[in-house]
Amino acid sequence: MQNEKTATTAPEGALLKVENLSVSYGHINALKSVSIEVFLGEIVVLIGANGAGKTTLLSSILGITPSQSGTISFDGQRIDKEPVDKIVRKGVCLVPEGRGVFASMTVMDNLLLGAHHNLKNKDKYLKRVFEWFPILEQRKNQVAKTLSGGERQMLAIGRALMSEPKLILVDEPSLGLAPIVVNEIFTILQMLNKEGYTILLSEQNTFKALKVAHRGYVLETGKVTLSGTAQQLLNDPGVKAAYLGA
Ligand SMILES: Nc1ncnc2c1ncn2[C@@H]1O[C@H](COP(=O)(O)OP(=O)(O)OP(=O)(O)O)[C@@H](O)[C@H]1O
Ligand SMILES: [Mg+2]
Repeated sequence: MQNEKTATTAPEGALLKVENLSVSYGHINALKSVSIEVFLGEIVVLIGANGAGKTTLLSSILGITPSQSGTISFDGQRIDKEPVDKIVRKGVCLVPEGRGVFASMTVMDNLLLGAHHNLKNKDKYLKRVFEWFPILEQRKNQVAKTLSGGERQMLAIGRALMSEPKLILVDEPSLGLAPIVVNEIFTILQMLNKEGYTILLSEQNTFKALKVAHRGYVLETGKVTLSGTAQQLLNDPGVKAAYLGA
């Protein structure tokens, strides 16, 4: 899986640049001056234990969670004070933790929701999503709650793709899935990356995530404590001890 990791760094700068971002929930400082960059064509992974701030960072990028200070830029433009729908229109989407599909709606309706601001291109994107995930076409009239965990994750990713994104934020895609399905989901993310999508994901399945990622950041209680290429992080004694069970 790893040998084809050939992301090219955009010479003009990062696709996503988060600088000194701080986010609090009341007196809880969930992010403390976090800075990360994601370049066009990369898969970047956020590694961190429960409560480290991974979901907070992803939801701040999409504009769901407001920040106290710091900046977020996408494609060279500040987005940190923009509303969510505008950020989605610029090309950022989120596959939320726990999938976030609408359980009592059909697969098709869930997918169409993902295209709600982009209805003129919905047929084109639906066709592509069904090419990537033929199982979703077979299940298109089924309500989402009857899907398996892996199929639901595919639906969540498919719905995100319906918004015509450049950057896909994926929050803990492997959560609650059997190992074989986890491999399948990571293979899908790699395939999407090869198709040109840039991906920022959070994961506690550190080893598998680093095997597909180009670079990563370690988050600990709201701070970035380490960053590097996937290989550097896989070889790091601290990462090995804390996250790789070695
Ligand atoms: N809506 C909220 N209100 C209050 N505190 C919150 C809220 N959401 C998150 N927090 C707190 O912010 C911190 C970071 O949480 P966050 O969900 O971002 O972590 P995480 O790395 O995604 O964890 P997990 O791996 O368990 O999903 C935690 O201390 C959490 O309790
Ligand atoms: Mg989380």
